[in-house]
Amino acid sequence: MTGPLWGGRFSRGPSEALAELSRSIQYDQRLWPHDIACTRAHAANLERAGLISPDDRAAIGVALDRAAAAFGDGAFAFNPADEDIHSALERYLTEELGDLGARIHAGRSRNDLVVTDFRLWLKAAIPALGEGVTALQEALKQQAEVHIDTLAPGYTHLQRAQPILLAHHLLAHAFALARDFDRLKGAFARADVSGLGAAAFAGTTLPLDPVGTAADLGFGAVFDNSADAVGARDFALEFLSAVAILATQLSRIGEEVVLWTSSEFGFATLDDAFATGSSIMPQKKNPDVAELVRAKSARVTGDLVHLLGVVKGLPMAYNRDLQEDKEPVFDAADSVALSLAALTGTLATLTFDVERLENAARGGSAGATDIAESLVRDGVPFRHAHEAVGKLVGVAAARGCDLAELTPEDLKAAHPKLHPSVLELLDARRSVAARASHGGTSPGQVAAQLERLGAVLDDQRRWLKETEPA
Ligand code: ARG
Repeated sequence: MTGPLWGGRFSRGPSEALAELSRSIQYDQRLWPHDIACTRAHAANLERAGLISPDDRAAIGVALDRAAAAFGDGAFAFNPADEDIHSALERYLTEELGDLGARIHAGRSRNDLVVTDFRLWLKAAIPALGEGVTALQEALKQQAEVHIDTLAPGYTHLQRAQPILLAHHLLAHAFALARDFDRLKGAFARADVSGLGAAAFAGTTLPLDPVGTAADLGFGAVFDNSADAVGARDFALEFLSAVAILATQLSRIGEEVVLWTSSEFGFATLDDAFATGSSIMPQKKNPDVAELVRAKSARVTGDLVHLLGVVKGLPMAYNRDLQEDKEPVFDAADSVALSLAALTGTLATLTFDVERLENAARGGSAGATDIAESLVRDGVPFRHAHEAVGKLVGVAAARGCDLAELTPEDLKAAHPKLHPSVLELLDARRSVAARASHGGTSPGQVAAQLERLGAVLDDQRRWLKETEPA
């Protein structure tokens, strides 16, 4: 058999352009382990239905083992007429087993086969990405533990705002990533539904049992409606959306690495293994990893938009457009897997300049809110307190000094209740310790966050263990 799988009713072979456009084997061959698993499960189903004998099924099993070994070694001999992984495997079985190989496609279609392969692929890919997310969170957690006492300037609008603990800042990223992990779990649950047995879209006249096939393949559920089974790609869209949001989060971490390692900030130094040089400027140490991670998020956003565009407006049930579902999904998964690994290494090996961070945390008017809140504790309405401290900041700015250098007279002039002792509130460490509200930056609150993150990571690892293939 050399022509396409559907040659029977045609008097001429496909044009070269059609064959070229149709071909997806270049990228869908990575589905091979799942196409083999689905074919094995389908053979068992055919045997249970009395459509092939136990010996037939055993022979198919042996041929599938041989095919798996060949794919595994990269030695599988593709044929120029192999349009996709499904036709390649069926051709192989027919060459190996003759008529028996030609029996395998009874009661199934490439439509239900491809969607089931794809779902199995996602069920393997999602936990792998979950491992990557967990490793990055672990790297952030370890840096937070090292820097549990390190002061850092906190920012809003990229303007120095209030002193914080560096650990507090790092943990913010780790908690955001916990939601990315959760979204991946949601995408896994939606992928965990077998489509095999839907046939082309309307089911089959043969006495097959999709529920048994789903169980054989380790799926948590089976399709309810065969047209939905072959026509739906919302599970892939959900995966892409989870991964696009994750990539966006990674880009934000990447951006901070770029800022922190610049001479202007000088808060951190990259390890040589995660930095690059310049081909012309010998002094340069560049954060290319962080920049590429920042850019990959654009690519993954594009992957999501790509598939949304493909699926939009498609009539029920299967349409060939759906063949274009795989490249964006593979691309997004590959891009994010790489980004996670590279960013984890970057973060784990980053050296923070504690002295520079703490000096930056102490400088300027970072304690202004603390002084205003002390007036509130003295019964002054917050708006008035804000106004008074704003005046103080103006005086300091005009004089080119820090708030701490203002005189008792300056304080009195701004507000009669401003006693010189309020200047002690400008001490950054004291200011941090005082922000002991829930989830705040005080050492006690940050220690509680570390503990909470530890429990979240334990839950994630438990889920990863549960989803390991048996
Ligand atoms: N390569 C195809 C895909 O990925 C398989 C299904 C082809 N089905 C069809 N009726 N032509 O969607």
